[in-house]
Amino acid sequence: DAADKGAYPFYMLKEIDEQPAVMRRLVQEYLGADGQPQIDTELLAQMKAADHLYIIGAGTSYHAGLIGARLFERLAHVPTTVHISSEFAYEQPLLSDNPFFIFLSQSGETADSREVLVHVNENHWPSLTITNVDKSTLSREATHTLLLYAGPEIAVASTKAYTAQVAVQAILAKALGEFVGNQAAQSFDIKDELAKVANGMQALVDSKEEIEAIAANALAKPRNAFYIGRGIDWAVSLEAALKLKEISYVQAEGFASGELKHGTIALIEKDTPVVGIITQDRTAGLTRSNLEETAARGANVLTIAARHLAKEDDAIILPDVDPMIAPLLSVVPAQLLAYYTSLGKGLDVDKPRNLAKSVTVQ
Ligand code: G6P
Repeated sequence: DAADKGAYPFYMLKEIDEQPAVMRRLVQEYLGADGQPQIDTELLAQMKAADHLYIIGAGTSYHAGLIGARLFERLAHVPTTVHISSEFAYEQPLLSDNPFFIFLSQSGETADSREVLVHVNENHWPSLTITNVDKSTLSREATHTLLLYAGPEIAVASTKAYTAQVAVQAILAKALGEFVGNQAAQSFDIKDELAKVANGMQALVDSKEEIEAIAANALAKPRNAFYIGRGIDWAVSLEAALKLKEISYVQAEGFASGELKHGTIALIEKDTPVVGIITQDRTAGLTRSNLEETAARGANVLTIAARHLAKEDDAIILPDVDPMIAPLLSVVPAQLLAYYTSLGKGLDVDKPRNLAKSVTVQ
């Protein structure tokens, strides 16, 4: 039974461990023997006809959208913006002439996201829901659905649904990019990359003792912690910080590393944990110097770096994949750091206080 936690103490650890299998399942579900995405051409035609993609989500799903937007822009060359559903629903930005809406929702039931979809349908705009729950409200009410095939996610803190959302968006962006004849999509070997991701995730989850030790040393005591990065590493920082705060109650924030000097660095004290995420060639050096600035003020710097950018003292080294989908790997140690920090404090990892798995009120 996929919803049985078996020998695992908490569902969250089981769900973290399932991520390599989810990646392989998505390859089976969405890619043909030739490695090409098998996506409904009517969906692709509607997306091609749009002049702007609007991604709508809440919480972790919003964070997955931040990665997806970059994939749609780079692989399919379509301008894409990401919006928090509870904001978009009540203060809609000025829209383009031909919008296409993508709803990201693990549960398919989030009330704020549904509020946006009702408005989208009133205007007869085309839409897609990417969800883990077939026949959920957002799935039934959108024009199209793509499933996450992640299996039931029980822990309140979302893990495998996030990585599945990023992977499905990568597959869809590749499909759309191919459909519109974009060179960047043609040279992106999604099948090979997702195979590398699955193996890389496996290596990371197999090194969980190391990550447990880092959590015990660096995160058990402090009340505050920071994740920093630039570009998609910043987007992952937001998700990494959310994971830590929601289950360990450490006040964690994700920051664009270049913004630190405009305020946040004032919060750095001796031993404040600052975790840097470094997976992008163009910004690696800049984030490293931002980390040094925090170290000079006493921060306990931990670096999560892609192998080709790694230095000897880096805490966690990620297997190399195409940098566009590096979040699929960089988020995994952050999930484990949050898990072990919560576990070490004796908290109920799966059911953090004040939170619900699915939020059906606005
Ligand atoms: C709740 C959950 C989060 C989730 C968010 C959006 O707050 O605790 O883990 O990211 O809702 O949920 P959805 O089902 O729409 O992805």
